[in-house]
Amino acid sequence: MRTTISVIKADIGSLAGHHIVHPDTMAAANKVLAAAKEQGIIIDYYITHVGDDLQLIMTHTRGELDTKVHETAWNAFKEAAKVAKDLGLYAAGQDLLSDSFSGNVRGLGPGVAEMDIEERTSEPIAIFMADKTEPGAYNLPLYKMFADPFNTPGLVIDPTMHGGFKFEVLDVYEGEAVMLSAPQEIYDLLALIGTPARYVIRRVYRNEDNLLAAVVSIERLNLIAGKYVGKDDPVMIVRLQHGLPALGEALEAFAFPHLVPGWMRGSHYGPLMPVSQRDAKATRFDGPPRLLGLGFNVKNGKLVGPTDLFDDPAFDETRRLANIVADYMRRHGPFMPHRLEPTEMEYTTLPLILEKLKNRFKKESDVYKAKESVYAKEEAQGHD
Ligand code: F6R
Ligand code: MG
Ligand code: MG
Repeated sequence: MRTTISVIKADIGSLAGHHIVHPDTMAAANKVLAAAKEQGIIIDYYITHVGDDLQLIMTHTRGELDTKVHETAWNAFKEAAKVAKDLGLYAAGQDLLSDSFSGNVRGLGPGVAEMDIEERTSEPIAIFMADKTEPGAYNLPLYKMFADPFNTPGLVIDPTMHGGFKFEVLDVYEGEAVMLSAPQEIYDLLALIGTPARYVIRRVYRNEDNLLAAVVSIERLNLIAGKYVGKDDPVMIVRLQHGLPALGEALEAFAFPHLVPGWMRGSHYGPLMPVSQRDAKATRFDGPPRLLGLGFNVKNGKLVGPTDLFDDPAFDETRRLANIVADYMRRHGPFMPHRLEPTEMEYTTLPLILEKLKNRFKKESDVYKAKESVYAKEEAQGHD
């Protein structure tokens, strides 16, 4: 059966700061999705949250960028935002950048990851959802999952994975994508995706048969809106097993809490901490950036599950290291490299400060010239 999995998310307001989604807003979204299921627009759905982001996981047969499915998500966010406004939740409606819906949610604020697949006999998937970071945060773990045998031994010892995978990399500044194949082109691939703020892995395919294996949401709200209106906390769908990374290989890629941009005011590097649903909220310094992972099986369009993938002591040490790294990074205060480079910051007062101080900057060359003229004067007097 041909099934489309659509994960669409938005920050429509949250409780006590940019901290956690309120259950009443999830209930409002649930009403809209239940009605869409009743009408046969979607087959199944699951609603969840990570931090201040409301996540709609939906299945249907209508393909990617479908107007009806996107309209359903948009209406769910609108209804949830109404409740958020009534409750006085913080930043109510934040990610809904337009008043009207125009075909699909692309460019309107919400983040989207969709894949249209031919369901295998058993179709295990993992959905990863992060808060307080951006889509390039998945570059490193995706590389590990699909190109690094030290993470994924299947690349070496499973004949069905041995042909490798190809990565579609989007240059978010130029709006153009390039396909690079691993293992043949890993140095070129790494040269690009090592700059995750610009080059973002959008899709991964199996080399052998072009099977779609992973999809990442790539909305950059700052670029969409022409100014920064919030970090575009990313979601990702990964297909698993039987010629694709095993569940454990996909999860292993998150065992190292790598540094990602985001965190407080979208302007700091911090460790990506994999957490259970219970801990999927932003606290310390509005973070640290959190990652929730849910596992499902998709059967005839039905979502079987979920299982809470990081709700496990096997990730305790990852979280402990993330906390140590968080401490270490925090001790830099407002200094780089904890604080992001100026072009990547969500908030910056730098232009105002530079404007205010502009008359107080002295040209180095003028200082030297002044010194030289004093010296010349003294010299001249000395000769008198
Ligand atoms: C980062 C984020 C938060 C806010 C911070 C300040 O993506 O959502 O860290 O930037 O809480 O929020 P405001 O400016 O709304 O008071
Ligand atoms: Mg937010
Ligand atoms: Mg968020």
